[in-house]
Amino acid sequence: MRVGILGSGLMGGKLGTLFARAGHEVVFSYARSEQKLKRLARDAHGNARAGTPREAAQKADAVLLAVHWSRIDDVLHQTGDLSGKVIVTCSLPMNDDNTELVVAHTSSGAEELAKMVPKARVVSAFNTVPSEVLFGVYEAKRKATRPSLLYCGDDESSKSITAGLIRDVGFDPVDAGPLRIARYTEPFALLVAQLAYEGNGGPELAYRFERFRK
Ligand SMILES: NC(=O)c1ccc[n+]([C@@H]2O[C@H](COP(=O)([O-])OP(=O)(O)OC[C@H]3O[C@@H](n4cnc5c(N)ncnc54)[C@H](OP(=O)(O)O)[C@@H]3O)[C@@H](O)[C@H]2O)c1
Repeated sequence: MRVGILGSGLMGGKLGTLFARAGHEVVFSYARSEQKLKRLARDAHGNARAGTPREAAQKADAVLLAVHWSRIDDVLHQTGDLSGKVIVTCSLPMNDDNTELVVAHTSSGAEELAKMVPKARVVSAFNTVPSEVLFGVYEAKRKATRPSLLYCGDDESSKSITAGLIRDVGFDPVDAGPLRIARYTEPFALLVAQLAYEGNGGPELAYRFERFRK
């Protein structure tokens, strides 16, 4: 597939690299320097290039939205029309100092995003995993037991595309239901981040915590 990366930081940079290594055609976009996007594309060792958000979205089968909540309007403005596009969002609706969710309980960032781009098909995924574990999960992906990863959305074909991407990175995709379930998975993602960055076991502990089904 063609996958556009909107936000090439910790999450977008790593996931884009892994999508390229798994055989997808990837366009990295939206970083503060073009050199960084070019370096990511070169280091991905797959079919990857740097581009603008518009180029990343234009012919994409799916786009990964991986920016801070405060950058959503800007990145959506730069992509142009996303009608019909599959948007896989890992972006959490955090305040400026990343201490609190600014959308919670009665809605979620994913649902608010779906209202901003009503003609796009939004799936929430990858936000419950710390970026630090992604390469390790990918390297271990041939093993029999894979860590679970939750995703949710309202459109079945977009969810199936997302489940494929989740599998390509090395997780076992777990369908958590419609997009409104993101109002429960987003606070869960915060718990995972808390464990990862402030708990004793670090990212490894948070990633094991995701194996709740096993
Ligand atoms: N990191 C995690 O483990 C994790 C886990 C779960 C969910 N998330 C969520 O995923 C989303 C992305 O997180 P992240 O950790 O990947 O963030 P990040 O490393 O800060 O990446 C954000 C990207 O946006 C780019 N950017 C920021 N301001 C910009 C501007 N003014 N113009 C152009 N580009 C700009 C950054 O550019 P530069 O590359 O130049 O800095 C970077 O590429 C967030 O919503 C976060 O809550 C993160």
